[in-house]
Amino acid sequence: MNKILHAEFIASGVKVFKILAPNIARKRKPGQFVVLRVHALGERIPITIADANEEEGSITLIVQGVGKTTRHMNMLEEGDYLQDLVGPLGIPTHIEKWGRVVCVSGGVGTAEALPIAQAMKAAGNEVISIIGARTKDLVIAEEEMLKRTDQVIITTDDGTYGKKGLVTDALQDILKEKEVNFILAIGPLPMMKAIAEMTRPLKIPTVVSLNSIMIDGTGMCGGCRVTVDGKKVFVCVEGPEFDAHKVDFAELANRQKIYLDEERKSLQKFEENCRFGREIEKARAEL
Ligand SMILES: Cc1cc2nc3c(=O)[nH]c(=O)nc-3n(C[C@H](O)[C@H](O)[C@H](O)COP(=O)(O)OP(=O)(O)OC[C@H]3O[C@@H](n4cnc5c(N)ncnc54)[C@H](O)[C@@H]3O)c2cc1C
Ligand code: FES
Repeated sequence: MNKILHAEFIASGVKVFKILAPNIARKRKPGQFVVLRVHALGERIPITIADANEEEGSITLIVQGVGKTTRHMNMLEEGDYLQDLVGPLGIPTHIEKWGRVVCVSGGVGTAEALPIAQAMKAAGNEVISIIGARTKDLVIAEEEMLKRTDQVIITTDDGTYGKKGLVTDALQDILKEKEVNFILAIGPLPMMKAIAEMTRPLKIPTVVSLNSIMIDGTGMCGGCRVTVDGKKVFVCVEGPEFDAHKVDFAELANRQKIYLDEERKSLQKFEENCRFGREIEKARAEL
């Protein structure tokens, strides 16, 4: 079991956790992730290692509550325990001195982009970060990104913070003004696909981090299979990062929807149980 050393919400539905995992903290590299279970009968979910502190033996995870397991995890507090953590998994990001690098991230993808942006900067690149969110309350890790990169541009769909519009608009503006040598995009699939289409004709090397459904995270189950450059690959062991211009995004979008019905039912049941639990607590308090 792994102890939670610190837990706090940093945006609506987004919680940052510091978790005791000394072996993972020592070995992890940018771009890698863990597969965790919240409780013994729970499913396994992949979460990126956003940061690590070797001295403390801790890793930092940033979790967006989107379904049953992530919402359950976001109910845990400092002093609680996770059932287990496996990692570090996945191939670390290839870090190189490209020149000017733009890291584009949407939603909780910013947590995943943080360690990579930091490593790109340490390798001598000029790093510009574009962080996108639907609205101001969902912008995460702005300060952390400011500390690690040369420039941070925020976009919100509704214009409540930063520039109004999409991350692709901000990227378009940069591409008109400056030479860009490498682009990393992490976020929702439509965003990563749009960036791939934008940079393909310009021949700018572009890498995306794929959020395919993972089960074991070790190349055994085939759950995370995607097609890249016409070949079947397993994201958990051969990724999660791939050449954006070679990914079959349509197939990946379909595969992400495979368990939608089960996910919906599972979340509904979980919410009913939470409500039931609260009602029992209330009734007890009134006795
Ligand atoms: C390499 C990798 C790194 C990730 N890093 C982060 C991170 O740092 N922070 C974060 O908040 N999220 C991250 N995710 C996404 C996270 O794993 C899913 O949001 C989570 O599994 C959803 O589980 P759920 O039960 O809460 O929601 P569900 O209702 O089960 O699913 C909601 C949606 O999440 C996706 N999903 C569901 N189960 C899985 C699964 N086992 N593996 C992957 N995706 C799934 C599906 O698209 C699904 O429609 C990452 C995913 C991958 C593949
Ligand atoms: S998660 Fe099972 S093969 Fe990748």
